[in-house]
Amino acid sequence: MCGIIGVVSANNVSETLFNGLSNLEYRGYDSVGMCFIKNGKLTVRKGVGKLEEVHRKVNFLKLKGSIGLGHCRWSTHGGVTENNAHPHVDCRKRIGVVHNGIIENYSELKEMLIKKGHRFYSQTDTEVIAHLIEDNLKNGKIEDAVRNALKKMEGSYALGILFAGSPGKLIAARNESPLVVGIGDNENFIASDVPSILSRTNKIIYLEDGEMAVLTKNEAKTFDLDGKEKKKKVHEINWNAEAAQKSGYKHFMLKEIYEQPRAIADTLNGRLENNHVVFEEEFGLTDGFLKSIKRIVILACGTSWHAGLIGEFMLEELAKIPAEVEYASEFRYRHALLGKDTLVIAITQSGETADTMAALKEAKKYGVKTLAVCNVIGSSITRISDGVIYTRAGPEIGVASTKAFTTQLAVLYLFTILLAKLRKTLNEKQIKDMINGIRKIPLQLQSVLDEDNEILKCAELYYNKQNSLYLGRGVNFPIALEGALKLKEVSYIHAEGYPAAEMKHGPIALIDKSMPVMFIAPHDIFTYKKVLGNIEEVKARGGIIIAVATAGDTEIPKKAKHTIFIPKTLYTLSSILSVVPLQLLAYHIADRLGRDIDKPRNLAKSVVVE
Ligand code: AGP
Repeated sequence: MCGIIGVVSANNVSETLFNGLSNLEYRGYDSVGMCFIKNGKLTVRKGVGKLEEVHRKVNFLKLKGSIGLGHCRWSTHGGVTENNAHPHVDCRKRIGVVHNGIIENYSELKEMLIKKGHRFYSQTDTEVIAHLIEDNLKNGKIEDAVRNALKKMEGSYALGILFAGSPGKLIAARNESPLVVGIGDNENFIASDVPSILSRTNKIIYLEDGEMAVLTKNEAKTFDLDGKEKKKKVHEINWNAEAAQKSGYKHFMLKEIYEQPRAIADTLNGRLENNHVVFEEEFGLTDGFLKSIKRIVILACGTSWHAGLIGEFMLEELAKIPAEVEYASEFRYRHALLGKDTLVIAITQSGETADTMAALKEAKKYGVKTLAVCNVIGSSITRISDGVIYTRAGPEIGVASTKAFTTQLAVLYLFTILLAKLRKTLNEKQIKDMINGIRKIPLQLQSVLDEDNEILKCAELYYNKQNSLYLGRGVNFPIALEGALKLKEVSYIHAEGYPAAEMKHGPIALIDKSMPVMFIAPHDIFTYKKVLGNIEEVKARGGIIIAVATAGDTEIPKKAKHTIFIPKTLYTLSSILSVVPLQLLAYHIADRLGRDIDKPRNLAKSVVVE
């Protein structure tokens, strides 16, 4: 995944591009570059490394021009070299291109272009686009040359294109990679996401697959690939630029962990009536259909997949609907047995994850109804789903997903209440208890955050460990998986999540005096006593026990070396609270190790490549 940004303005654009790229670096930071057109000439500056590192060498802010493109790269085709950094240019260095995505047929296109005399300098798929446009340019306008080039390309792209022969025009195009157009005052923008241009405008057009945009400083027009103009809705985004910044926190991840009470409250806002749940008009699924559902299939990746596992528990336990959770990357290659009585739910923070998008498209071939649970308004997956329930977590910039996860759980819980009421699987009192339970969560979450110092002490004691285990049962087993993933992705320490009972089937061999073992063990009527037994098994083998327990529990503190308490709540709701100590533990350990927490190595915020 890469980040792209473009600006055409009445003023110099280098600072806008620079600030935009610094907001986009979470999407990729192997290399970075910019290009400008000034006095009919295309100038390109690029280098290997993060924005600040390359800036120190090339001084991006010294470059002047009223139209420009910027790019930060997460390499897919071609190693991390200066030649492979974007922007890429054609033979005559008059066309500049930045790209996010993968051109599947770039090899045959490159071969064809080399036969026609084009000379290449990089191993990337993107450079082919610049030469293809140049090859088409011989007969006419840049827009037509771009359109004809796009028709020859297969694969995913979000593109920004400049041509020195048309210095006032910025051309953009998208197919399966996110790209928005920003409408400013005497300036217009393209960008991979909204926060990167939010300080300049909150008027956003979401490009659809197969669309092109032609921007000048005073106009932004959208076209299909046949050149027919398309009128597009201009969305007014209510995120302020501040929300997209760190607000004084050391890292976005910490800020977003602490934003969870607010994010949950926003996600609940307006959806909890006296004794039932209502979703806004975009919901798109009728009561009649919801009553008729016989099965639910959840598709997701990573942290969103963990949310799906908890959603499965809620839907089966409380709405009595058979549910199953599939890794989107696996589902898309399976011959799924879906019927019209199946609801497919895609859970995705970004709404752009390639595997989840592909799995959803696969599911739609069976004529099923689809629902997206998503955090980004107008993102690709929301636009191919029959219904959408938005989490309202606000922009999540840290690569490690935190507030998006807990708001996904809140949405799944609300959806379960809606289904349980419609299908009468719970009585009025049970519904009321569930609604009262989730209303308390924002405040209860705040009380867990207040335990941060206790968690910091654990981080200080165990940051130098090389392995750890996370164990839970029932609805807390997915929390064990999520806690382990958080630690892995920000601290690079190996961690495994397991069902606590599974220990005796092998993993207990790992236990020794150096192994921290995290038990997620809130008090419940189902499995609490069994978890106490598992704690004893680990303790008997010298494991270091850290436990998440319910406030007032006196048993667990006797057995654990460290206990972090969460408030008492309903069983399925406890997962929203029990994950927070694990988020904070992962954060503090990574911070103690000096990791690049918001941009961990090898990772990207939204995996838009397969
Ligand atoms: C979670 O911390 C990771 N960033 C990753 O597993 C992420 O959850 C996954 O890539 C899915 O992303 P999505 O929710 O945007 O689809």
